[in-house]
Amino acid sequence: MSVNHQLVVTIDGPAGSGKSTVGKALAEKISYVYLDTGALYRAVAYRAHNEKIMPGDGAHLSKLCNEIVISLETRDGGLRIIIDGDDVTDKIRTEEIGLLASRISAVPIVRESLLSIQREVGSAGGIVAEGRDMGTVVFPRADIKFYLVADVIERSRRRYDELIERGESVDFEEIYRGLLVRDEQDSGRSIAPLRAAEDAVIIDTTYRSIDEVVDTMKRIIEERCGNGA
Ligand code: DC
Repeated sequence: MSVNHQLVVTIDGPAGSGKSTVGKALAEKISYVYLDTGALYRAVAYRAHNEKIMPGDGAHLSKLCNEIVISLETRDGGLRIIIDGDDVTDKIRTEEIGLLASRISAVPIVRESLLSIQREVGSAGGIVAEGRDMGTVVFPRADIKFYLVADVIERSRRRYDELIERGESVDFEEIYRGLLVRDEQDSGRSIAPLRAAEDAVIIDTTYRSIDEVVDTMKRIIEERCGNGA
């Protein structure tokens, strides 16, 4: 059975729950577009950091959001994030920018300004969109919603391995504490807090391999929406 090509599939969950790895693999498997919305928040955070704008400075963040031009390009099978012509895809992947992204993502103007670009990418369907509020706010009428969870130690380990592999020198304790802070910030904010949509399928990825999770998701999509084509 194959998957109808117009569906909107959402994946939400806390940092390190496996959303990006699984989302990318799932999109590839069912030939869908993969949208990593965390990268958009990271792009704004990266620019704010460069311009020394503090997370609490709503006026300058608002100006930044009005001026910034973010474009998404697919290259070599991966999604590249370009801000005002500068390819920042790799530069936004640090823990520092992740934590800052978490802070600025609680600012209403930042969320508002990124809403249209996300909905535009998803408008034609055939998309796997991952983030924190995909199933609750951005695509509330998505065809299938997943919510990934995993033990915080396992999430820290994954993040640690990822950064070590990239050649960064990191401290496990620091990553663990950073994740707790991010969990608190992302779930505790008043707008679009991290939470599972009522109709989301919850998958615990702690003891499951990437392939297992992707296969489970694909099976669920096919069971619910497969068109037999
Ligand atoms: O998924 P990530 O770690 O790249 O996301 C970075 C931060 O961006 C995350 O801690 C919270 C914010 N974010 C958000 O508020 N809403 C989204 N849809 C995606 C990310």
